[in-house]
Amino acid sequence: MKLLLTTFTACTLLFSPAIAALSGDKCPEDTLSCSANIKEADTCCYEVNGIFALVDFWIKGVGPEDKFSLNEPYPHTCDNTLTGADGCDPSRKVDNVESIISTVNKTLYKDMRTHWSSDGDNEPLWLHIWNVHAICMSTNRPECFSNFSRYQDMVAYFSNALALYKRYNFYAALAKHDIVPDNSKAVDPAKFKNEIKAELGIDAAIRCLHNELVEIRVCFNMLGRDRYVPIDACSDDTCLAPLSYPLK
Ligand SMILES: *[C@@H]1O[C@H](CO)[C@@H](O)[C@H](O)[C@H]1NC(C)=O
Ligand SMILES: *[C@@H]1O[C@H](CO)[C@@H](O)[C@H](O)[C@H]1NC(C)=O
Repeated sequence: MKLLLTTFTACTLLFSPAIAALSGDKCPEDTLSCSANIKEADTCCYEVNGIFALVDFWIKGVGPEDKFSLNEPYPHTCDNTLTGADGCDPSRKVDNVESIISTVNKTLYKDMRTHWSSDGDNEPLWLHIWNVHAICMSTNRPECFSNFSRYQDMVAYFSNALALYKRYNFYAALAKHDIVPDNSKAVDPAKFKNEIKAELGIDAAIRCLHNELVEIRVCFNMLGRDRYVPIDACSDDTCLAPLSYPLK
C-alpha cells in the first residue's frame, strides 16, 4: 500500500474552550482565514488552521488512468506548519471511517473509492486523514453545525475535500496544453507548472520521486468551512529536472 504520510513537526493546536462558538451559518461572509483583521476569534467562522492543502497523487495502479487521485487534503496553521501528529480533538477519533461513510452516505463512499483510494485497503489512509488532519479544522466541529447529526462533520470533511478535488482537474488542465502521460518523454517542470497556472489559475508545487511525478499540491485560504481561495504554493517543488509523467 502506498501511503506517503507527511512527516510531522510539533505544534498541536487545541481550540480554546473559552471562546463561544457561533454556529457556522451565522458567520460573516467575507473574511478569509489567516487574515490580519480577524480579531474576534470565532473559530467556527474562521478556520484556525487556515491554510488548506489539496494533495493529489499520480501513482500507477491507483485510480482512473486519466485522473490524479485524491490523497491527503489537510489543514496547516497560518504560518504553514503541520498540526500535531495526534490530531487536535481526541474525543472525535474513530477506528472505522470506511464503515461510517458507507453507512451514512453511499454516494460519497462510492465516489471516494474511485477518486480517493490507495492501491489496497483504503481504511488506513482515510483513518489517517480523519484522526490526524480533519479533526484539526476548527470550522468543522459539531458545535459549528446549526443542526448537527452524528458524523455530519465527517461526511462534510470528505465531501468538501472531494468537491475541491473535482474542481481542480490537473489531468484535464495539462491535457489541454498537450501534456499527457508518456513513458518516453520528459516534461520541463516549469512548463508543467505554468500550464496548470494558465488553466486553473493556481500555483502548484510538483513533487517527484527519482524524477518521476508523484504528487501535485495546491494551497488555499478558506472562507468558512467549505469555500477555498487559492494562494501561493505552500510547499517546495521536488521535480527539479525534466520529469517523467508516466502512463498509469
Ligand atoms: C452525500 O455525498 C454527496 C457527494 O459528496 C453529496 O453531494 C451529498 O450532499 C451528500 N448527502 C448528504 C445527505 O450529506
Ligand atoms: C434537524 O435535523 C433533524 C434530523 O436530521 C431533522 O428531523 C429536523 O427537521 C432538523 N431541523 C431543522 C430545523 O432543520
